Amino acid sequence: MSTPSQEQDRVLIFDTTLRDGEQSPGATMTHAEKMEIAQLLDEMGVDIIEAGFPIASEGDFEAVREIARLARRASICGLARAHFADIDRCWEAIREAKRPRIHTFIGTSPLHRDITKLDQDGMVQRIHDTVTHARNLCEDVQWSPMDATRTERDYLCRVVETAIKAGATTINIPDTVGYTYPRESAEIIAMLRERVPGADGVIFATHCHNDLGMATANALAAVEAGARQIECTVNGLGERAGNTALEEVVMALKVRNDILPYATSIDTRKIMNISRLVSAVSGFPVQFNKAVVGKNAFAHESGIHQDGMLKNAETFEIMRPEDIGLSATNLVMGKHSGRAALRAKLSQLGYELADNQLKDVFVRFKALADRKKEIYDEDLIALIQDSAASG
Ligand code: KIV
Ligand code: ZN
Repeated sequence: MSTPSQEQDRVLIFDTTLRDGEQSPGATMTHAEKMEIAQLLDEMGVDIIEAGFPIASEGDFEAVREIARLARRASICGLARAHFADIDRCWEAIREAKRPRIHTFIGTSPLHRDITKLDQDGMVQRIHDTVTHARNLCEDVQWSPMDATRTERDYLCRVVETAIKAGATTINIPDTVGYTYPRESAEIIAMLRERVPGADGVIFATHCHNDLGMATANALAAVEAGARQIECTVNGLGERAGNTALEEVVMALKVRNDILPYATSIDTRKIMNISRLVSAVSGFPVQFNKAVVGKNAFAHESGIHQDGMLKNAETFEIMRPEDIGLSATNLVMGKHSGRAALRAKLSQLGYELADNQLKDVFVRFKALADRKKEIYDEDLIALIQDSAASG
């Protein structure tokens, strides 16, 4: 497999909904559900699917193995700790994939070195041995220093150099606890690319968590500094406050291509489908005002906004609903709606009212909207009938 260079104008999308996303408390998915998600991720153009953690359970192993057999286009990746047994089990699960990838990791920050009881040299040796072992099995090896953003910078350079020398082809920089900040996220990638020998022969990836609500910003800042793989999950599903959301980074790269001139291979028109599927199987509802996929992301209630939308959709929308697989903008009828929006809504429902009748229905509509949060199509039809009956 050729190693794409850092200079490429493409960002790879690595989806870890089935691994990091599923680690979210309460988000466990059945085997069949995982197959359905993997199939859609593959169809929509995700470059790498992290299908699970094969040594974690028999169920994870079987799911990763079946996804590896089924995927047509995506690389299939399994997670493994820095142990030979983990790596062997991972390889067993992914080996039948068209494009298998082993992802092995170890916590490199002082807190994690305390837990593994390895000193700096001991950890370097472990990284060398395990990455070498993985590379002897598989051509495509990703290595991650867990808690990279809280790892001493000189030591981070040293461990990344070790992994590259041992054969890693992708170096992923996890912000495991969502601690970093966009400028810092960029600085870390820039520093590694500048200081680590061999850095220009690997892909740098960014893997952010959302504890401070900065996962998307941190991932995009890393891309600006040269990362060419974003790790993310659908709807931002993931432990604690979740991970970078796939739909956010993909649409940010599309909408702001002027300042982030990198393409992805995602068919964005499948975004709503995958969002709904992941929400249904994980049991995690998508918040109404969630960027890109929330119920209100393309909904407008205020009169000024609705009027602007009716004249030119770009007035209040930076993306087209069709681009993410929605059929149309939703003009929500409520107390803030104006007469132009009411006329447009009634026309959609098949009612073209004369000006004086529209005036009457509008008065009735405003009175109702003061009592009721949202006005449904049936309410509007009833108002027209009442108006006709009294006129
Ligand atoms: O957040 C993290 O550090 C991870 C690693 C296993 C890559 O998910
Ligand atoms: Zn993670």
